[in-house]
Amino acid sequence: MAHLFKLIVTLLCLGLQCGLGQAAAVDLESASSSSSSEATRDWWQVAQFYQIYPRSFKDSNGDGIGDLQGIISKLDYLKDLGVTATWLSPIYTSPMADFGYDIADFFDIQAEYGTLKDFDELIAAANERGLKIILDFVPNHSSDENVWFEKSVRREKGYEDYYVWHDGYLNATTGQREPPSNWLQAFRGSAWEWNEQRAQYYLHQFAVKQPDLNYRNPAVVAQMKRVLTYWLDRGVAGFRIDAVPWCFEVVPDAQGRYPDEPLSGYTDDPDDSSYLKHIYTQDLPETVDMVYQWRQLLDDHKRIHGGDTRVLMVETYSGLDYVMEFYGNRTTKGAQIPFNFQFIVGGEGDKNNTQLNAVGFVKIINSWLSQMPAGQTANWVMGNHDQRRVGSRYGEDRIDLMNMLQMFLPGVSITYQGEELGMTDLDISWEDTRDPAACNSNENIYEQFTRDPARTPFQWSSEQNAGFSSNSTTWLPINPNYLTVNVETESAANTSHLKLYKLLVQLRQSKTLQYGATRCAAVNDNVVAIKRSLSGQPTYVLVANVLGTSVSGVDVASVLYASGSYKITLLNPQAQAAVGDSVTLSSLSLPPYAALIVESV
Ligand code: NOJ
Repeated sequence: MAHLFKLIVTLLCLGLQCGLGQAAAVDLESASSSSSSEATRDWWQVAQFYQIYPRSFKDSNGDGIGDLQGIISKLDYLKDLGVTATWLSPIYTSPMADFGYDIADFFDIQAEYGTLKDFDELIAAANERGLKIILDFVPNHSSDENVWFEKSVRREKGYEDYYVWHDGYLNATTGQREPPSNWLQAFRGSAWEWNEQRAQYYLHQFAVKQPDLNYRNPAVVAQMKRVLTYWLDRGVAGFRIDAVPWCFEVVPDAQGRYPDEPLSGYTDDPDDSSYLKHIYTQDLPETVDMVYQWRQLLDDHKRIHGGDTRVLMVETYSGLDYVMEFYGNRTTKGAQIPFNFQFIVGGEGDKNNTQLNAVGFVKIINSWLSQMPAGQTANWVMGNHDQRRVGSRYGEDRIDLMNMLQMFLPGVSITYQGEELGMTDLDISWEDTRDPAACNSNENIYEQFTRDPARTPFQWSSEQNAGFSSNSTTWLPINPNYLTVNVETESAANTSHLKLYKLLVQLRQSKTLQYGATRCAAVNDNVVAIKRSLSGQPTYVLVANVLGTSVSGVDVASVLYASGSYKITLLNPQAQAAVGDSVTLSSLSLPPYAALIVESV
């Protein structure tokens, strides 16, 4: 998608710190640890977050679609995994044009997922287990089937300007009506759609069925704050905010004209949103201020009603300077967790990260840690429902390695469902394709745009439909690798992605990993080395050969100032060693894709 492409280009321009092949160590002690001491750490700073895509998590009623009762039935799995909080992709009433990101009623639950009663039950059952529920908040747009839009179409009082409307222009030569500007939607084609009934165009930066709400209208701002309060009152611990950079667009000029956006030069495809530079429709300063207002609302809710801190997670693939603004500034608090998508988009033009070497990895890590404002907490997101799965981007050989990295780095860790099992993408035929981003293209090119491969049902067991559903079919096909890649089989195995993931979550609870300083280095093209240390606690070192070639005689000790003796605490199978083995950090041999976490003796 265009925003992804834009960020890759931005990153290329950033001139990050480590040169290729250099043994560059960067001490990030001050940047990587929050200014708050161990005693004052808030729950979310040491939490394990987990994203559930409800449609694909667990079907309780046999219709082939996941639902709330399904999630309730699997809360013990989350607890066992070591999850602290889970964010759910949208569960609100929706015609499902964009699988819940097109909301027809912001105050109710989609019938195929359950009812408000089920939702209250979910909150209660999660609380009983000490788990927190975070909802997806979709502020930029609603469904065209939302009553607000229907009222706006009819120009009902109070709703006339709820959405962004414009007459467009009559082309004097052709006599045809044309859209107000050249703006493009994220899912291919014009961002303007003609509405016969109102006889005007409306703006939709995503699908035609997702009209953009008008944030220049104070009534909309107030309405969306009502949405937040409604769900906070029902007991949610916070929100993941969808598509944040799109909330505000530039205001029209005195003649009521919206400016055309300039060509980006990235593609010749005029329907692709990356055809334009989105200088008038994304990343506006007003959007950052809106997030600050939402944070204030959450803090006020806690002040009035008590309980734990409510959190905001911001979805933005924008350039890092803009992303960092969401953290807040000296006077105003922002979101605690502006998503760090560097491991998704930071591959320097290598879209799938398959060729990323150690220097590339370290650049990705340091880009966040060095730009994050002082006193804030880092976060690491390896994947989500919009991206290829980690094993399909980084390669299956690097699945454990990526989980090890994510858990070892300082700050908040966020896992997309199934990454703990090493689930991989399934190629979906054109006939089975459901994602609007793909359906808006054609049979020949849809695979470039589809997000369906990472959304296939969760793999619980080797039973029919991977234990996801008792129905004869499921809304997306099940990946045939479910026979071996599933919770049941991986739990029973001596070693598995799941087993290692759980051990990593446990290790992450150690004082050193929670509160320790971080030193990160690319020892050579192959080897990433990270040291975590805290006075009075064991020092841990992660050493990972991120490439498919062996290395020997690697001196990690001098690059990281890691003297003394070390033994292996955790490792992936590629390391061909055993827990408890002693290692010599000054001269290490590592097979392809080997990853070890060692502990000072
Ligand atoms: C980002 C969401 O993650 C994606 O799934 C959705 O299509 C767009 N925002 C539009 O809401």
